[in-house]
Amino acid sequence: MTKIVIANWKMNPASGLQAKRLFSSVFKKTKEIKRAKIIIAPPFIFLPFFKKKSNLALAGQDVFWSNSGAYTGEISPAMLKSLGVGYVIVGHSERREHLGETDELINKKVKAALGAGLKAVLCVGESERSGENFHNFVREELKKDLKGVSRRAARNLIIAYEPIWAISGNRTVKTDKMVRPGELFEMITYIRRSLLDILGKSAAYRTPILYGGSVGAESAAEFLGVGGLDGFLVGHASLSAEEFIRIVKAI
Ligand code: PGA
Repeated sequence: MTKIVIANWKMNPASGLQAKRLFSSVFKKTKEIKRAKIIIAPPFIFLPFFKKKSNLALAGQDVFWSNSGAYTGEISPAMLKSLGVGYVIVGHSERREHLGETDELINKKVKAALGAGLKAVLCVGESERSGENFHNFVREELKKDLKGVSRRAARNLIIAYEPIWAISGNRTVKTDKMVRPGELFEMITYIRRSLLDILGKSAAYRTPILYGGSVGAESAAEFLGVGGLDGFLVGHASLSAEEFIRIVKAI
């Protein structure tokens, strides 16, 4: 399977000019790369600046569950599609935490995105690793967020496993809290097993599973050897064209 690398710019950079510069540096230096599917997820407001390129696809960082109506401030799946956006991140832990997004709401968004033909990148992950319960937490999240998703629609599903405690913005001691490759392998296997129960065999085999807990060029190279891992959801490191390109090149 072609590896996937998503640049989640979050609420960065500060201006349209900086966004254009970042996009064009990544574009120029990744033109020749065929072995990775590179997806840029800028803030909504910058999306119209960018055209889907042969080597770069676009993603929204969020989406609403209805295609039109009185929903002040929201962006619909249809609007994203009209700009050539093919992917959307749903249920990122920062939205769960700061915007109070619940599994019920995320489930609606996943269904709306898939229903509109977007590829939905569903983020799941435990906030802490203590005891054995964190596995179960991730499984329950998957169950709730994927409730009512058909097997057919699930062909456009991507899972991003983000252990919340390892995301850069949540870490105080950088080297202290990293997922080890063995732990990642175990969780990926567990997620595939959960997908088997929830959506069946085909989804368990075919759904790409990305790792999204603070990836840099060095850790990317280390994690690439983890069986069953299909790529990365990169946060802060995607704001530096050089660092992001090093991650892509690691693939
Ligand atoms: P990070 O973020 O790479 O800055 O840790 C990952 C994410 O939240 O997607």
